Amino acid sequence: MRVVVTGGAGFIGSHLVEELVRRDLDVVVVDNLSHGSLKNLSACAHFIQGDVLERDAWLGQIGRADVLIHLAAQISVPWAEAHPEDDVRINVIGTVAMLQAARELQCGEFRFASSAAVYGDNPNIPLAEEALSIPLAYYGLDKQVAEMYIRHEARSGQLRTTILRLANVYGPRQRVNGEGAVIGVFCEALARGQVPRIDGDGQQTRDFIYVKDVARAFCHRLGNVDGSEVYNIGTQKATSVVQIWRTLARLAGKSPEAVRYGPERPGDIRHSRLDVARASDWGFLAEVELEPGLKETYQWFIEDAGLA
Ligand SMILES: NC(=O)c1ccc[n+]([C@@H]2O[C@H](COP(=O)([O-])OP(=O)(O)OC[C@H]3O[C@@H](n4cnc5c(N)ncnc54)[C@H](O)[C@@H]3O)[C@@H](O)[C@H]2O)c1
Repeated sequence: MRVVVTGGAGFIGSHLVEELVRRDLDVVVVDNLSHGSLKNLSACAHFIQGDVLERDAWLGQIGRADVLIHLAAQISVPWAEAHPEDDVRINVIGTVAMLQAARELQCGEFRFASSAAVYGDNPNIPLAEEALSIPLAYYGLDKQVAEMYIRHEARSGQLRTTILRLANVYGPRQRVNGEGAVIGVFCEALARGQVPRIDGDGQQTRDFIYVKDVARAFCHRLGNVDGSEVYNIGTQKATSVVQIWRTLARLAGKSPEAVRYGPERPGDIRHSRLDVARASDWGFLAEVELEPGLKETYQWFIEDAGLA
């Protein structure tokens, strides 16, 4: 089975590529390297440096494929607020272009990395898939609009589509300015021997999921789904920012008391947690517990990022 992964040189994409290669699949990565890196990539994947908005330049190199997994996106919420038109271009039009690419490659299946950001601050926690989408910012809004195009395409009956709404993803190779960035920010500060700052009182909670679990979710029943569906991919557990800090400080052998507190970030959601019942019925459950996941992440910041 040939699988095309857009954004495969990025944080989540590179773990997904590893998982696909481990499963002996034929993997083609398309990434413009705007934020990804060839350093992240497994030698067994075929790499094409290309932009999702310029598919005519690279589609011919692939010929045909069975599945297209679309992860390429701009992932900074503040950047999207400052550049809304560019966010639409990359995250909405880029997705529509990849739906077209999937058709042109004669794929039977399309998978998409959406986000819990589509729910905004809907208070009905844990948030189930049918909960109302009230995005707070352009990033979530553009993911919601991209989902609408995907559902529209699914109704045509030519493409089976699976939308995964990801909770806060953390793990090795994560960036310090994307979604779920707090863990990267703390790890980076600890690895540099600095004291990080917690925005607000630190009691805000998130549903943190380890990146290797997310990679498994994208591979789950790949090429073997009947219809089109949307799934929340999280742990359904709430963890506060202070809990994260205390665990990481302990793993790093630092005093958790050293942390500084700053003002609350404007527009920050207080609590976010996903209901994972539908994904569980589908047969997918996250497996990695928080502490071992944090340990591997911190280790990566020390060793691979060369920060120590
Ligand atoms: N990290 C999270 O916590 C999280 C949570 C929810 C959803 N997501 C979604 O998961 C996906 C992957 O996110 P990530 O955290 O790995 O981000 P990332 O920035 O590490 O990866 C995105 C990749 O896409 C590439 N890219 C960007 N624009 C491109 C373009 N126009 N053409 C081709 N390639 C392009 C980048 O170079 C990068 O390698 C994104 O769609 C993101 O919105 C991430």
